[in-house]
Amino acid sequence: MTRPTLLIHDLASAVSPAGKGPQRGREEFGKLEVHSPASIAVSGERILAVGPPEEVLRDFPPQKNTRTVDGRGKSAVPGLVDCHTHAVFLGSRADEFELRCRGATYEEIQASGGGILSTVEATRRGTQQELEAALERHLDWMLCCGTTTAEVKSGYGLDRETELRMLRAIREVDQRHPVDLHPTFLGAHTVSPEFEDARGYLGFVIREVLPAAAELARAADIFVERGSFEVPEARPYLAACREHGLVLRMHADQFSERGALPLALEMGARSADHLESTSDEGARLLARSDTAAVLLPGCGLFLGLPNPPVKLLVEEGAIIALATDFNPGSSFCSSLPVVMNLGCTRLGLTPAQALAACTVNAAYVLGLHQQIGRLAPGYRADILLLDDPDWRYLAYHLGGDHIAARVKSGREVR
Ligand code: NIG
Ligand code: FE
Repeated sequence: MTRPTLLIHDLASAVSPAGKGPQRGREEFGKLEVHSPASIAVSGERILAVGPPEEVLRDFPPQKNTRTVDGRGKSAVPGLVDCHTHAVFLGSRADEFELRCRGATYEEIQASGGGILSTVEATRRGTQQELEAALERHLDWMLCCGTTTAEVKSGYGLDRETELRMLRAIREVDQRHPVDLHPTFLGAHTVSPEFEDARGYLGFVIREVLPAAAELARAADIFVERGSFEVPEARPYLAACREHGLVLRMHADQFSERGALPLALEMGARSADHLESTSDEGARLLARSDTAAVLLPGCGLFLGLPNPPVKLLVEEGAIIALATDFNPGSSFCSSLPVVMNLGCTRLGLTPAQALAACTVNAAYVLGLHQQIGRLAPGYRADILLLDDPDWRYLAYHLGGDHIAARVKSGREVR
């Protein structure tokens, strides 16, 4: 019999998205498997069993070296998965935040040389050690709020050296930080200041940066938007990224709908992210595909953007994930529970849908839905113990201090 290394016993409840794959459609999206009361047995990095305390105890009695954790009065949910972040950057955009509070728009600031380019300037000046330290600080904030796996994009270098330095920083920090990292190459965040136009810049990226970046990243992303990249430029770029074996992602329809979604589907992108300007027609198209809709309500709140067509996406069966979009400009928010609250209060999701969107569906975006995002035997033991018997406090208590303990790959962290 497999010996448990960790036993969390007598929980008020253990709550997990039900089923195997990502959840989609009105019937399935937000369906939960609830054990109440519950115990969880873990062996090494994996979950052995989740179920009624007496059954778990009978099947997996604690041994000499089993660590036991008292779950009384607490609920457990899977560790949260943040599938869209820009968590490696240097510098601050607090001054721009204030300008926006005074009425300037994000796009105006961007057009006058601020925005993404001001973070590019600060990030280019940093050493790899400084980038790693900044990323670690940001990951500490995220872990504190329950994130146990995060995607992190490059995209504040826009030159060969800095883009690769960012990706190396992600790889290095992944070795030592409890949060598991998934690097995405976002060399196509916006046109580099050294280049006249988008076409010339993307040609340089394809020739000079992509081959090395593809060794360090798992996915590639592009910002399709006015002032950044248009569809005819994005198509050959994404094709080149795909040839290098990268999964495709896209910042789509953030400020305007300009053909990003049809392109995402044509290229078989894993996700289309933002969608604040997506039409009903676009939503229907996306919902019929296996490309996930990644919604970023922290960004919507920060920039005062309209909501994506969430009701239609849910009803038509889209695979919906929620993420922070954590970055210094459009979403300085590192908390997935805050995003879950916004998913409920602003986008009309139920708490259970918000949980699925930050666990199993976000794991799908990273290609990890068979490994993480559920509390079930065989899954990685990424577990949050919440300080309340009702797990919905995670979404309900806006800005609350919810988490009593975090288990990452079977070990209690911080
Ligand atoms: O997802 N839209 C483009 N990129 C980021 C913002 C990056 C920044 O402002 O630094 C986003 O919102
Ligand atoms: Fe983003």
